[in-house]
Amino acid sequence: MMADDENKTDEKRSKSPQSRTTSIVIPDDYTSYSLDDFCVPAHYYDDLKCVLLPKGLILDRVQRLAEDICHDISSPLVALCVLKGGYQFFTDLLDCIKNHNATSEKSFQMQVDFIKVKSYMNDQSTGVVNIMGSDNLASLKGKSILIVEDIIDTGNTMVKLLETIKKFEPKQVMVASLLLKRTKRSNGYRPNYTGFEIPDAFVVGYALDYNEYFRDLNHVCIINERGKKRYAANT
Ligand code: HPA
Ligand code: MG
Repeated sequence: MMADDENKTDEKRSKSPQSRTTSIVIPDDYTSYSLDDFCVPAHYYDDLKCVLLPKGLILDRVQRLAEDICHDISSPLVALCVLKGGYQFFTDLLDCIKNHNATSEKSFQMQVDFIKVKSYMNDQSTGVVNIMGSDNLASLKGKSILIVEDIIDTGNTMVKLLETIKKFEPKQVMVASLLLKRTKRSNGYRPNYTGFEIPDAFVVGYALDYNEYFRDLNHVCIINERGKKRYAANT
């Protein structure tokens, strides 16, 4: 890259707001991919409508999010994974951040922590948000926190989680969510970093589940009615 181009990139980045609200918007009339165009496990083939986001596309987007995060964040950083759905995004995002740190002049120290949040039964929010896990949230005091989440749907879980985390007096809290659902049920919350803004459909795969199924699916897919019935929770 020519020196002039490098300066332009820096200039462009330094003008970016600290909290980014840009994301790739997948429109409602988006033509998703047929299951036959990608490798989908046979045990889920009849339970899915289509592939919405192939894993390769997700990985490329995650790399870009990691670059933005590395540019914005201050050290020391605690990357906080929201289990279970966030584990794949967390792993891939941290791999990119570690690679950035290993090759960049400006690197920062990072710690990891995990919390578990559960608020869904079948494809409906129960309205009750349970936060479990890390018993050492007090260690977040004075640190930069990056909460890593798979999906923001109503936004209620994240608002509740942020209230809880802020009680521990971190220096800064940022949220990275792979997906942001466009839904009438949204409370208006938007994360600092969003991978893809998606239509109002129930999605599974890349660690996102439907009653604990489909985490073992590489791509983000839309579940069909047969899949919803087949894996419905026994209530
Ligand atoms: N898929 C998986 N988990 C979720 C979703 C979804 O579409 N929305 C909220 N939690
Ligand atoms: Mg989640």
